[in-house]
Amino acid sequence: MKSKILGLFRSTQDIISGEILSTALGISRVSVWKHIQKLQECGYEIEATPRGYQLLSSPDTPFPWEFPQREGLIHYFPEVSSTMDIAKEMARKGASHFSVVIAGRQTSGRGRLRRTWYSDDGGLYFTLILRPNIPLQWCFRVNFAASLALCRTVRRLTGLNAAVKWPNDILVDGKKLSGMLSEMEAEAEMVSFVTVGIGINVNNDPTEYEPTACSLRQLLGKPVSRKEILARFLDELQTYLDEAEDNLEKTIAEWKEITCTLGRRVSVMTPLETSTGLALDIDSTGALILELPDGSHKKVLYGDCMTED
Ligand code: BTN
Repeated sequence: MKSKILGLFRSTQDIISGEILSTALGISRVSVWKHIQKLQECGYEIEATPRGYQLLSSPDTPFPWEFPQREGLIHYFPEVSSTMDIAKEMARKGASHFSVVIAGRQTSGRGRLRRTWYSDDGGLYFTLILRPNIPLQWCFRVNFAASLALCRTVRRLTGLNAAVKWPNDILVDGKKLSGMLSEMEAEAEMVSFVTVGIGINVNNDPTEYEPTACSLRQLLGKPVSRKEILARFLDELQTYLDEAEDNLEKTIAEWKEITCTLGRRVSVMTPLETSTGLALDIDSTGALILELPDGSHKKVLYGDCMTED
């Protein structure tokens, strides 16, 4: 009902009478008023005048009803420990493919390699539940598709020259805008579900904790809609996921076009070792191929990649 009411308001700039709303929605005028009150409680500025109601502004909160095509799959929480934990729990209980768990803020947001992901108000924090019908060795394809979809989304919506740093950070001018954390469960060598957690610095200021990070608001000098980023990203992801399953070469080729890692001297750190060399290529398993100082090639499967030049 909320999405229908908002749809009606957004189709006109005008005041809409209670009577028109009640006829269009097929509910009583008292019911209309109750729904309006609920929307107001959620932060929608709706003016009630003797002639009817008018939507003056909407909060930039990714409420499920803001995604009418996906409403049943979107779960929004103002605050959680980590969307990874909530999503995993939901996935184990059978949540559908493409369910999304979003948080306004996280009290224990986590990043790759056991790091903390600071999750203040204003950022976009969500975990997607995916159920690709693939063997577990193909899981990296999901990450390639997701980083590609996110980088394209940022570029298309903001015009910024966003790039992917291997394996799947999004950077703008060398500063980290977004990070991705994937976890999965498998059964009999097949993926049961993958949870892809994404944190995007949108209208928050991450530099307090991470001097080498940036946010869209800082880069563009104005707030950016989290709802729009998420909606666009989910649409893009659908396309890239299909492509990564059917035509990995194409996905990797596209990924190579927008990466800032290849051709650079890098150090890749894991808790066990650091490898330094020239980032030559990505192979068909998603591994980074480094040319070491002695000319030999090394395949790196995971780690934290830092550019040296
Ligand atoms: C990284 O760059 O280290 C990955 C960061 C991933 C952060 C996101 S925010 C939403 C989801 N919930 C978490 O606790 N982490 C991921």
